[in-house]
Amino acid sequence: MPVIASIEDLKRLHRKRTPRMFWDYCESGSYTEQTFRDNSADFALIRLRQRVARDLSDRVLASTMLGQKVAMPVALSPVGSTGMQHADGEILAARAAARFGVPYTLSTMSICSIEDVAAATPDPFWFQLYVMRDEDFVDRIIDRAKAAKCSALVLTLDLQIIGQRHKDLKNGLTSPPRLTLPNILNMATKPAWSMGMLQTPRRQFRNIVGHAKGVTNLADLTTWTNEQFDPRLDWKKVARIRDRWGGKFVLKGILDAEDAKLAVDAGADAIIVSNHGGRQLDGALSSIRMLPSIIRAVGGKTEVWMDGGIRSGQDVLKALALGANGTMIGRAYIHGLGAMGEAGVTRALEVIAKELDITMALCGERDVKKLGRHNLLVPKDFEGVWA
Ligand SMILES: Cc1cc2nc3c(=O)[nH]c(=O)nc-3n(C[C@H](O)[C@H](O)[C@H](O)COP(=O)(O)O)c2cc1C
Repeated sequence: MPVIASIEDLKRLHRKRTPRMFWDYCESGSYTEQTFRDNSADFALIRLRQRVARDLSDRVLASTMLGQKVAMPVALSPVGSTGMQHADGEILAARAAARFGVPYTLSTMSICSIEDVAAATPDPFWFQLYVMRDEDFVDRIIDRAKAAKCSALVLTLDLQIIGQRHKDLKNGLTSPPRLTLPNILNMATKPAWSMGMLQTPRRQFRNIVGHAKGVTNLADLTTWTNEQFDPRLDWKKVARIRDRWGGKFVLKGILDAEDAKLAVDAGADAIIVSNHGGRQLDGALSSIRMLPSIIRAVGGKTEVWMDGGIRSGQDVLKALALGANGTMIGRAYIHGLGAMGEAGVTRALEVIAKELDITMALCGERDVKKLGRHNLLVPKDFEGVWA
């Protein structure tokens, strides 16, 4: 087994072990992929202030998100089709997160269902909802998340209309995947992945099949998913969902200060500054650039978290120092999962925690909750504010 020192190491292994179409599905953004690239590249523009000769004993990474204790303020973002990156991927990622002490978010578009994950993991997880046209389906999936004791609902707002990723079109990545000859031949070169998939019964969207009206087989599912994302989603619908849920409520996909204020008015307990990992509006600014103006607009009325481009503990530190109350990672843990299953997700979390700890110490700090602007050197024109 090669030494895994960084997320980049996990990424290389993920690429090697996973069929091309699922690797591409993960490692791509919409259209020109500018926003996808900027999410990571903009972190590199922020530099850290080195401080010395300070007592660095007893360092603390633990914090809270939604009042819940976390081993570090890093939660796992919802990632659709995680169970195609590795057999039973959602169960493995949720278990790794629970054991590490960070929250896991299960996507509506997951392979393992809410019930599958609840039965296999020790801790409550968060559930991410996409608003579908079928209101009955939405109501029932909210009720299923409640019955499974999910401890927060994360409502994603930035995918009313699906952005286009060229690679997915070319690879025939539909739901379910098109089994073209090149796809089948490529899968045959990934024996561990293929064995895992043959051994699990979980190979399609189990939150949907058997639960949505008229969806009993794969052909129905394709039609259903293509038609169901609700283009009419508005703040009235957000309020309806909040009331139906009645618990901790998080709004994901906020990238604008005006929308952040509306999200506060809608009763969000936390908002996630996010552009869907560069998979939706190509040309939008990176999450990290938009973060400061959104934090100012929210004025401490709710927690503000961010995701997009985080590939290291240094990135986490930069987001926290800019004022985020928490961060989330998507591809960073998916690389771990694709590389080594549950152990890989754990490894990804360990890598980030260690980087965060050492970087914090070298900045002269002992507690993640005390990080601030004073730890950073930020270019003057860095922030995404409108003229
Ligand atoms: C392969 C993939 C699938 C995703 N599926 C979902 C999803 O089902 N629901 C959702 O709200 N966000 C989804 N996202 C967005 C992530 O939750 C998160 O916002 C994004 O991955 C953060 O960027 P990062 O991957 O650079 O960390 C997905 C992202 C990726 C990479």
